[in-house]
Amino acid sequence: MPQEKREIFTLLQDWAENNILVMLKDVEKSWQPTDFLPDSASEGFEDQVRELRDRTKEIPDDCFVSLVGNMITEEALPTYQTFLNTLDGIGDETASSPTPWAIWIRGWTAEENRHGDLLNRYLYLSGRVDMKQIEKTIQYLIGSGMAVSTENNPYLGFIYVSFQERATFISHGNTARLAKQYGDIKLAQICGAVAADEKRHEAAYTRIVEKLFEIDSDTTIRCLADMMKKKIVMPAHMMYDGGDENIFGHFSAVAQRIGVYTAKDYTDIMEFLVDRWGVEKLTGLSDEGRKAQEYVCSLVPRYRKFEERTQARAKQATTVPFSWIFGREV
Ligand SMILES: [Fe+2]
Ligand SMILES: [Fe+2]
Repeated sequence: MPQEKREIFTLLQDWAENNILVMLKDVEKSWQPTDFLPDSASEGFEDQVRELRDRTKEIPDDCFVSLVGNMITEEALPTYQTFLNTLDGIGDETASSPTPWAIWIRGWTAEENRHGDLLNRYLYLSGRVDMKQIEKTIQYLIGSGMAVSTENNPYLGFIYVSFQERATFISHGNTARLAKQYGDIKLAQICGAVAADEKRHEAAYTRIVEKLFEIDSDTTIRCLADMMKKKIVMPAHMMYDGGDENIFGHFSAVAQRIGVYTAKDYTDIMEFLVDRWGVEKLTGLSDEGRKAQEYVCSLVPRYRKFEERTQARAKQATTVPFSWIFGREV
């Protein structure tokens, strides 16, 4: 990224301190995984575990596959921290850098770390899933990383994470709804707590991009168009369990089929962001900027046409075995 663009992020440090760091939640006021799990130091631990296992009885395998995929995605957190640290002018240069951007990255990571911990422990205690296969998938995934074409560019990077935080908010929220429907209120609370964090993170990242639109609308709209053209690739797209070469595709199809994360959600997120950033109302753009604006505005109606077809295809898809649930087919 050119030096003058890099400087924008240095100039925005005070702004970030006052507007973004305040979006982090105090550790003392944050929930911790133990708040939702059987207390292993208590006398009643075994009873609590038994209750947990009873509660999961009505939850079907496809929900477990979707939940496992979401958990594995959360567990690849080292990759996402690395990703944020590659962004020019943003990254934490010393692992304890005092810049507001670096403080945000560490604070955000520390909050996110609770998500994988909580879901992992819950799934472990449920006894419904093959933890060894899941653990292998996590190790493979962290080892592979991710390739989401943001090229160290914080404009692209913040647009990407805005989209992703909303996507995770939606999918954990939908999982909460399903858990409740199948009678596991505890799991619904767990997914709800995670979803609430994602929502707060979405608010922070969309606020950063909103600021970029305010001070440099031309670059920002062109980056938004660029990101949409490349399509938002899911962070866990390199998932592998040691057997199924297309396990990410299979997991995504299940999530689509049961309504945890669908093609409609993708379009809804686009629509939300276009509106959130006032894309249609941008003025004073260069020729290229205007073309990017037109392109971005044309996407939602275009994508809407494919939603039903995608959903119909997902409903017809043949079942596949998942190692995560001992090879049972979903
Ligand atoms: Fe998360
Ligand atoms: Fe997140």
